Amino acid sequence: MSLTSYRILSIFAFCVATAIADTNLDIPYPYNCSTRTTCSSLRIKLPQTNEQFNAKYLNASDSAVDFHLENKKGEQLALTITGIENQRFRIQIEEHDRHRYKLEHSLEKEPNVKKIQNVKVLNDSVTFEDSENNQVVVYLNPLTIEFYHDNVLETIFEGNRIIFQNTEESQAFTFSVRFTNTRQLLGLHEHADYFKLRHTADFSIDPYRLRNTDYGEIEYILDTTRSMYGSIPVLYSFGNVSSGVFLHNAAEQWIDINLIRNSAYFMVDGGTLDLFVLLGPSLPDIVRQYVDLTGKPHLPQLWALGYHQCRWAYNTSDDVMATINNFDIYDFPLDVLWLDIEYTAERKFFTWNLTSFPDPIELLNWVDDQGHRKLVPISDPHIKIDPDYEVYTYLLEHGLFVNNSDGASPFIGECWPGNSSWVDYLNPAAREYYGKRHLYENFPSTPALGGFWNDMNEPTLFDNLYERTFPFDLVHYGGVRHRDVHNIYGMLQTMSTHGGLIERDNGTLRPFILSRAYFAGSQRYANKWSGDNWGEFEDLRFSVPMALTSNLVGLAFYGADIPGFFGTATEELLIRWYELGIWLPFFRAHAANGTPRREPFLFKNETQAILREHMKLRYKHIPVWYTLFYEHTLTGDPMIRPLLYQYPDDPVGYDLYDEFLVGPDILTSSVYESNATSVPVYFPGNNESWVQITGNLSKLPVYQSGQWSNISVDITFTPVFYRTGSLISRKPNVSRSTADIKDDPLELHAVIDSDGIAKGRIYIDDYESFDYVNKKEFVYGEIIYDSNNSTLVLNLLDETSDPSKYPVVIEAIQVYERNGNEVTIKKITSNRDGTPLSTIDLSKKNILL
Ligand code: GLC
Repeated sequence: MSLTSYRILSIFAFCVATAIADTNLDIPYPYNCSTRTTCSSLRIKLPQTNEQFNAKYLNASDSAVDFHLENKKGEQLALTITGIENQRFRIQIEEHDRHRYKLEHSLEKEPNVKKIQNVKVLNDSVTFEDSENNQVVVYLNPLTIEFYHDNVLETIFEGNRIIFQNTEESQAFTFSVRFTNTRQLLGLHEHADYFKLRHTADFSIDPYRLRNTDYGEIEYILDTTRSMYGSIPVLYSFGNVSSGVFLHNAAEQWIDINLIRNSAYFMVDGGTLDLFVLLGPSLPDIVRQYVDLTGKPHLPQLWALGYHQCRWAYNTSDDVMATINNFDIYDFPLDVLWLDIEYTAERKFFTWNLTSFPDPIELLNWVDDQGHRKLVPISDPHIKIDPDYEVYTYLLEHGLFVNNSDGASPFIGECWPGNSSWVDYLNPAAREYYGKRHLYENFPSTPALGGFWNDMNEPTLFDNLYERTFPFDLVHYGGVRHRDVHNIYGMLQTMSTHGGLIERDNGTLRPFILSRAYFAGSQRYANKWSGDNWGEFEDLRFSVPMALTSNLVGLAFYGADIPGFFGTATEELLIRWYELGIWLPFFRAHAANGTPRREPFLFKNETQAILREHMKLRYKHIPVWYTLFYEHTLTGDPMIRPLLYQYPDDPVGYDLYDEFLVGPDILTSSVYESNATSVPVYFPGNNESWVQITGNLSKLPVYQSGQWSNISVDITFTPVFYRTGSLISRKPNVSRSTADIKDDPLELHAVIDSDGIAKGRIYIDDYESFDYVNKKEFVYGEIIYDSNNSTLVLNLLDETSDPSKYPVVIEAIQVYERNGNEVTIKKITSNRDGTPLSTIDLSKKNILL
């Protein structure tokens, strides 16, 4: 039986078991290019000569140059090219009356413009430059725009593929971009696909589609360009010179990729053509240039980086308490237990089912007593139609629901509670009201209710007629057509939830929100998981390129349901999934209802031992995750990285995504096949080596960079390596939760290089408040261990910070001493004078060992 038919059968069984009314499972997936006019008609359309736009120079201001576009059919458009600080330009094209919907909320702020200079108007072209060594050439007949950095041509906007429709039925438009120096095209998140974008332009597969849709309930197809829960219209060209584009537009998009020309043809269902060109010239540069537009997240509270246990559902207070107790009895760390839809009264969000959760406050206090753990409940954007439900009646009376095409009557559809309407988050009043639902007085809870889980927010409705999401013709606040904003709907829900949580805690606690749908900018409010995957090895494998791409497009706090939401993973796969899951930023187990219970303590002793050791390994690395996250908030740099990001000159790494880096120093390669006895691992870099830290090894093997090696594995571990020259800050002991260990001293793993030096960064703050932003109270520094003169030094990396509250205390240093191809570890616990390290504050004085 094929994987697909197996999935269809299993999902059928799942639906019967859970009595979800979905009668359309027998229809094949109908939403491909041929069924959508925007794609089917525009994909094959090559504008004739009389349809191609010629450009006429109009004028230049300090930071922008304007053109008039016209073709021989008499169609007219306005083009503006604006210089944006930090190696970026912005191309905006639309009708002269400029009436198209302008997207709001995705950009963090209006980007800073830069000076345009030396505008030269010639017969057939206009050239200009900026102060950052970029040059632009606009060819007029037909329009073509070339972007050069440092006199190297990087990106070409191909005007001969411009089509603008502007009728009652369609405001679709198209354009094409081409890159030079390309080795790979990346991005266009989210697809359950490979890391590198594939060639679609020969029509053998559909173009990459971006239209937020529920993906799991019918099938979670892998190896496909089909659209998923989230959309980030960012495309990167990676090469010896890298560049990219970000289409600031939340309508449905189809993107044909041509790997022969290294071009991308965008077919967009509505909104404006508002394209940012990112001129790099390195991949890390483009990532920062993109993230700088849509914003960086704030730090999460520390507990959010611990282990999350979810299932649909922990149905009663007793169930919650018994589960948490078992984590303690069986010695598994845990920070969060999740509440799926069954905690509500009749699936009415912001209510408790008081029969099964009779005293939510008492329960939350109890959870807090168990190592300051948290509960996180689900809250979807659909609101049950029920005249006795206050949230429904308020939203109805105040006109705060999304409307039908008449613009006046609320749209009604079906989701978990039955007939529902949907909050119109485009309306500021709706966002305000919805946000306030999170206040303690409106939803009985305490800070132990750590955050919220915004699900089904593509949004999903149980009607295949509309592709399980909103019909295109719904109308939002201000008369905005749904088709223009579809992909940002889920993000607006998280924005409202975020505002509510800030207000709930008077701005003292950092909100935590998990969202299934997202758009460019969502990272400012929420983190993300990959949705309703399956308990199969292939799903484990595809979770890695998805997480890597997400990390390159600003949404770093990403993970996949362990060990697959649907189906029942074998015990072997479950182990492999935990072994991988500890190395993804978001670490959560989840299970569909109807699946057997699979909390870690339910397995046989041998399995428990492996899971326990790995979960503890995650907790030991909590300082690494927290420091990486802090750096991500500063720069937008990914937390987990494909090899090509860190080693752009190492061509072997270009094709690898099974193995990846956690920050710059940790390399991990998972096991994606059953019964594996070895894994081929490539060791990137030039003059460094990699030390294997997992496995039952008395001496740790060392592998030279630039080589492949077959690493023996058994079920108890997957290969993980530290880079020589790195210094990894760990917590030596693991207890119930991150709260239990957060103030423990550090254990430094100094993996010295051939010069005898190890360096690594550390960040410490209060782990929960915004004082790190508002008062700059934190320690951020580089720790350097020098074995030549036996010193340990902390160099502060932010002189404006106030580190006084946060001592940097070391319990021990594990020095990795190399002997041939092996490492032995020397443990140091006191300084030269015999003073225990744990009594010294490294931020106050250097240590002589
Ligand atoms: C959706 C979510 C899943 C959740 C379920 C019930 O399928 O993706 O995680 O458990 O809804 O709320």
